[in-house]
Amino acid sequence: MPASKTTKKSQETIGWGVIGCGNIGPTHAAAIEDASSARLVAVCDVIKEKADALAEKYKCKAVYSIEELLALDDIQAVSVCTPSGMHSAHTIQAAKAGKHVLCEKPLDIKMAAMERMIDACEEAGVKLACVFQMRTEADNRRVREAVRGGKLGKLVLGDIYQKYFRSHEYYASGDWRATWALDGGGALMNQGVHGIDLLLWIMGDVARVSAYARRLVRNIEVEDTAVANVEFVNGALGNIVGTTSVTPGYSARLEIHGDAGSIRAEGGSIVDWSVPGEEVEATGEDKQGTASDPLALTATGHKRHVEDLARAIIEDREPEIPGRDGVRAVKLIRAIYLSSREGGASIDMAAVSNEDLDEDGIYPTVYAEQW
Ligand SMILES: NC(=O)c1ccc[n+]([C@@H]2O[C@H](COP(=O)([O-])OP(=O)(O)OC[C@H]3O[C@@H](n4cnc5c(N)ncnc54)[C@H](O)[C@@H]3O)[C@@H](O)[C@H]2O)c1
Repeated sequence: MPASKTTKKSQETIGWGVIGCGNIGPTHAAAIEDASSARLVAVCDVIKEKADALAEKYKCKAVYSIEELLALDDIQAVSVCTPSGMHSAHTIQAAKAGKHVLCEKPLDIKMAAMERMIDACEEAGVKLACVFQMRTEADNRRVREAVRGGKLGKLVLGDIYQKYFRSHEYYASGDWRATWALDGGGALMNQGVHGIDLLLWIMGDVARVSAYARRLVRNIEVEDTAVANVEFVNGALGNIVGTTSVTPGYSARLEIHGDAGSIRAEGGSIVDWSVPGEEVEATGEDKQGTASDPLALTATGHKRHVEDLARAIIEDREPEIPGRDGVRAVKLIRAIYLSSREGGASIDMAAVSNEDLDEDGIYPTVYAEQW
C-alpha cells in the first residue's frame, strides 16, 4: 500500500516505531502513516537494508537495534513485527522502556512466554494490544453481534475452514518459518491462528478438543495440515480445519449454525445470512485475499489496530484486543498439538496445565508415499 501523505492527523498523535521490517513490518508502517492518531518516527531491523528501505519510503529514521529504537524519546508505542517466538522478549524490552506495544499475532508461541509479556506490560503500566485483523472486518463484527445476541437460537455448530496454499519458496524465505522454536507450529499457529481467534471471539471458549495435525506435503518441521473437533463451553460443537498445502488455496470460511438460523462468511464477507426476519446483502467480496499469497494483505485492518491503540493511550482505556485476549487462540492451538501427539485424545481445556501445553511440539509424521 503506498504511503498516504494526505491523511489528516489529529491534534494529538502517538509517536510510533516498528520493530522488524520483513513481510508485515511495512504493513504496520503504512497503517501508522495512514492513521490519524499516530505518526511514524522510526523503523528498526537487524538487517540494515530492510530498515533503510522502509525508512526511505516513509521518510523516517532507520535504526538497526531494538535498544536504539527504544531509546528514542519521541516514540511512545511500538509495533512488534519480529518472528513469533521473539514477541515476548521484544515486548518485555519495550515495556521496560515505557513503550506501549501493538504485537503481531500470535501473541507468542508458548503459554509461559505470553504470561511473562502480559505481566511485564502490567508492571510497567503500558498497554499491550494484539493484532487479529479479521476481528476488525465489518461483516465478522456483524456475525458476532448476531450470534451473541441470540439471533441464531441455540448454537449447534461453529466451524472455521482455512484451506490455504503456501509455497516451498514462502517457507524458504526465512529460516525461522515453520520451526517449532520460532514459528511455534505451522498451518495453525502461523496462518490458522487468525480464524481460530475469530471463531473463539464469536462462539466463546472451548471446553474440549480432539485433533490430528500432520505434515503431509511441505518439507517443514511443523504441521502443514490439521483437523480438530471441539466442544464449546456453551455446548455447541465445531470443526477447525487448517492447511497450507492445498492447491489453489481458498479464502477462510466461517460457518455458524443454530436451531433458529445460520450465517456463513467467506474471506470476511457474508455469503449467507439466514437469520429469521432479517436480510443482509451478501457481497461475496474477498476482504482477506491471502488464500495463496501472504503478501496480498492490505493495511486496512492494521490501520484500525493502530488507531485503536493510539486512542486507547490517549483516552487511557483498554485496547480492543488486549494482550490477554491473544492468549486464547494460542492455548487452543497448543492443545490441538497435544491432542494430536496423544493420538487424538480429548483435552479438557480447563484442566490442562500450561506446563503440559508448553511441551515441545508434535513432530508430525511425513507421509512420503500415500499410494
Ligand atoms: N497479521 C498478519 O496478517 C500477519 C502477516 C504476516 C506476518 N505476521 C506476523 O508477523 C511476524 C513477522 O512475520 P514476517 O512474515 O513479517 O517475518 P519476516 O521474517 O518477513 O520479518 C521479520 C523481521 O524481523 C527482523 N528481526 C528479527 N530479529 C530482530 C531484532 N532483534 N530486532 C529487529 N529486527 C529483527 C528480521 O530481520 C526480519 O526482517 C510473525 O509473528 C507473523 O506471524 C502477521
